[in-house]
Amino acid sequence: MTIATFPLNDGHAIPALGLGTWKSADDDAYRAVKEALRVGYQHIDGAWIYGNEEQVGRALAESVAEGVVAREDVFVTTKLWNCFHRPEDVEKGCRESLAKLGLEQVDLYLVHWPIAFRPGVIMPEDEEGFLPLSEAPLAATWEAMLALREKGLAKSVGVSNVSPSTLRQLVADTGVAPAVNQVELHPYNPQPELMATCAELGVHLTAYSPLGSMDRPATMKGEDEPPLLKSPKVAAVADAEGLTPAQLLIAWAIARGTSVIPKSTNAGRIAENFAAGEATPGADALAALDAIETRYRYVNPSSLLRPGITHDGDFWA
Ligand code: A2P
Repeated sequence: MTIATFPLNDGHAIPALGLGTWKSADDDAYRAVKEALRVGYQHIDGAWIYGNEEQVGRALAESVAEGVVAREDVFVTTKLWNCFHRPEDVEKGCRESLAKLGLEQVDLYLVHWPIAFRPGVIMPEDEEGFLPLSEAPLAATWEAMLALREKGLAKSVGVSNVSPSTLRQLVADTGVAPAVNQVELHPYNPQPELMATCAELGVHLTAYSPLGSMDRPATMKGEDEPPLLKSPKVAAVADAEGLTPAQLLIAWAIARGTSVIPKSTNAGRIAENFAAGEATPGADALAALDAIETRYRYVNPSSLLRPGITHDGDFWA
């Protein structure tokens, strides 16, 4: 089965369905990527901060060596961590990821968050760990990302977790729209304003945590979270369509024109999710998901938002 692609504003294209690797630890990530490539995935999403780029890279290299897949047929994404935002540090962050992945170029390199930490600070413990935007403006980081593209270290460059207003400001400041904005998107967090802004600016959206990311660490969970995969509405529509709830959520994301990166380290679920790439839920089924009124954001970085350091509550999406 070949998965459809979506065009990017730089002439490249992104496969509509990929494997997410956030929360896939060590050998689980290795096994998941090997299994995904074996069943036909051509898009792997990673990040420096996930701490598993070596395992992802090893799985990819082995799969290429074994003739399972050609390197050029796999779309590999990784992301610049917040401690590399000063323009002079951006290439260092990228090269660290490339070295761990064992690649000379990634297909897509994203600014992971529109927020900067001091060099060397992986997760700030107090105010001191943050870099004020005046010292690392997003536009300056973005210009350095564009330079990486010129150097050939990334085919495409983009952002992640960026709100409509910040995205507009970035394009106004630099004149170059990111190829991609990767954000949390699912029926509980459909972000219609961001969808409209990205369509207007020509920025493709990738949906992360499309299944509600219930394997997040307890410290990242709110009380009484509504588990998306257990939604009776999602289950009823999925049942009627002959799909599993996860497959319906994946197919819904693709039908909205977003690429989608469900995470799994389980072989059966990796295959189940991949099969959603050719599911065609009817218009009524999609409308039923659109009509869900529950609102919930599973990945909520509000602890990272500090007055005077980030713009305001509308900084990230
Ligand atoms: P597992 O890795 O054991 O399959 P998200 O992509 O929103 O971050 O969600 C990932 C979570 O959803 C993980 O807990 C993952 O568990 C689980 N998951 C992935 N695919 C499916 C599926 N098809 N059915 C049920 N749970 C799934």
